[in-house]
Amino acid sequence: MESNDVDLLIINGENAAGGFGITPSIAEDLFDLGAHVITTGNHIWDKKEIFEYMTVPADSHVRGRRVLRPANYAVGTPGFGVYEGELPNGTKYAVMNLQGRVFMSSCDDPFRKADELLEGIKRNTGAKVILLDVHGEASSEKVALGWYLDGRVTAVLGTHTHIPTADERVLPGGTAYQTDVGMSGPYDSVIGVETELVLKRFLTGMPGKFEAAKGNPKMCATLIGCDGGTGRAHSVQRIMLGE
Ligand SMILES: [Fe+2]
Repeated sequence: MESNDVDLLIINGENAAGGFGITPSIAEDLFDLGAHVITTGNHIWDKKEIFEYMTVPADSHVRGRRVLRPANYAVGTPGFGVYEGELPNGTKYAVMNLQGRVFMSSCDDPFRKADELLEGIKRNTGAKVILLDVHGEASSEKVALGWYLDGRVTAVLGTHTHIPTADERVLPGGTAYQTDVGMSGPYDSVIGVETELVLKRFLTGMPGKFEAAKGNPKMCATLIGCDGGTGRAHSVQRIMLGE
């Protein structure tokens, strides 16, 4: 973070609790490490302690307010899918979290929900630096959202597949895009789970408890350079750090 002079750090923490969900104490650790906002996805409710942590007023800026769940979840779900904040240098920013619908459990239309969130940001803080974590399985849906939002947000970054994609680019309208940032976790695994356990499941179809693997840890990230005034991205860099 320091070596790259990062102003705004967003971490997807949906599986930070040993591969399944996130707890308030882990969220606190990630905030202590410098995260401004924590995004999540379909595993957000795996640890029920997080429900209360995220149940805070919409206009609050406490840490629990800065843990997002996808905005296109059902009305009445704890927490929020968008956060608007301000950096010490005065730059206003917004972070949006959406979940895809293809090959995933049902949720509202992420495209129209993105429109709705952007309208809200325009009315509220007018932030120009806007990042979207789109938590989705299908590349096509994430690519489509990238084009749909090109020129309207600073970055559209995909998560959920755990596999980093090599398609990072700045789209013509000035939106940085990558289909999937990839997992920070053990790469000697099947997307983070002990390989033997997953192989057994595929070979026999028998149920069994999945456990997080440990081998070959790597950290994946994506570094976006942008104009704080216009919100337009000018660079995007895929990062994978080894042990
Ligand atoms: Fe996920």
